[in-house]
Amino acid sequence: MVSKINKKILLAVTGGIAAYKSAELVRLLRKENTEVRVVMTRAAQQFVTPLTFQALSGHPVATELLDVSQENAMGHINLARWADMLVVAPASADIIAKFSHGIADDLLTTLYLASECPVYIAPAMNQAMWNKVVTQENLKRLEQHGINIIGPEAGDQACGERGYGRMTEPVDICAQLITNKPTSLLQGKSVLISAGPTREPLDPVRYITNRSSGKMGYALADAAIAEGATVTLVSGPVSLVPHSEVSLVKVETAVQMYDEVLQRSGFHDVYIGTAAVADYSPGEIKQKKIKKHAEQTSITLYKNKDILGAVASSTPRPFTVGFAAETDDLERYARGKLERKKLDMIAANWVGKDVGGFEDDKNALQVFWRNGQQTFELMDKNELAKKLIALIAERMDEKSTT
Ligand code: PMT
Repeated sequence: MVSKINKKILLAVTGGIAAYKSAELVRLLRKENTEVRVVMTRAAQQFVTPLTFQALSGHPVATELLDVSQENAMGHINLARWADMLVVAPASADIIAKFSHGIADDLLTTLYLASECPVYIAPAMNQAMWNKVVTQENLKRLEQHGINIIGPEAGDQACGERGYGRMTEPVDICAQLITNKPTSLLQGKSVLISAGPTREPLDPVRYITNRSSGKMGYALADAAIAEGATVTLVSGPVSLVPHSEVSLVKVETAVQMYDEVLQRSGFHDVYIGTAAVADYSPGEIKQKKIKKHAEQTSITLYKNKDILGAVASSTPRPFTVGFAAETDDLERYARGKLERKKLDMIAANWVGKDVGGFEDDKNALQVFWRNGQQTFELMDKNELAKKLIALIAERMDEKSTT
């Protein structure tokens, strides 16, 4: 018995080395009882021939906007109406830019404007192109327009570089399209994490800092990567090595951390402020080593800008998670920070005790949000990070459906 077709998928292939992987995507999708029709841009045809996709999909491949025979058979408006879902894989930086600005100068871009079905794009490009601010701005616009973004992944690239920009594997794209659920909790999401202490210099040899080792923040970065997120870690001086897929931004002072976080936070889905940022810094850094003459001395300290609060009140704003390090009255102070800084969630830990908090391999957290809370007992920071990431994913889901 022939099983019933359950979805009509219009797969658009754009120019990029990952175009060859889309042949496998067609094969996998057809195994799931979908009917697949393929559109190729001119650039895509430089990488794979339309014949390959015709053979795999069982249908002629659409390539031209004004092709007389194709307009007669299934023109761009008909193709857009036919599809239950438009999937662009690989999606080049160029097509992302065109979609985000409504440019319609070929078959695919016109189809996109004419389509009313859900649209999924699986970006694939060189890591520098992916990291360009304008690409991230374009992606943010598409997300705001309701486009679903799958990936990309980090790793070795065809150009010999390393970083984000590899198209998500066809098997994962297929799973996401069929179940309509990401394969991992944070698949397709970008997470920005601050970690470690800051160092506030007094003179060329001295600085004010704190006991943060960075362990909690680095463990969260690992856990977010394991759940399919792209992760940027803005880290104060620590002796840890981040996961190879993490984009690491090293800073020293609270001012540097503020600048590096704020210039990225608008392009991320989640911000987690794990860093123990100095609340105050010396106003003046002496050019020469301060000499010991007087019996007493004093330093005037000035309040630093609040990174977490600034992220939470920026637009667009990520799902914002703060940390609170408390020595007493933990819930009252943590809930106060949650409200005052307008956070989505705050993870509070006791500090100054024998175990947990700063430096230790273990920690315990009490997590609060507006109408709820959850306690995680003392455990290894890696285990704790997995649980907190799962809770963040759950709360984000909840927030997007209410
Ligand atoms: O690094 P480890 O050794 O593993 O230790 C982990 C930790 C104890 C540092 C971590 O679990 C933790 O509690 N981090 C927050 C420490 C802190 O600075 O807490 P706070 O209550 O002073 O600050 C509240 C929040 O505001 C934090 O999210 C902090 O990042 C943020 N903040 C504070 C000051 C400032 N100028 N800008 C900020 O963004």
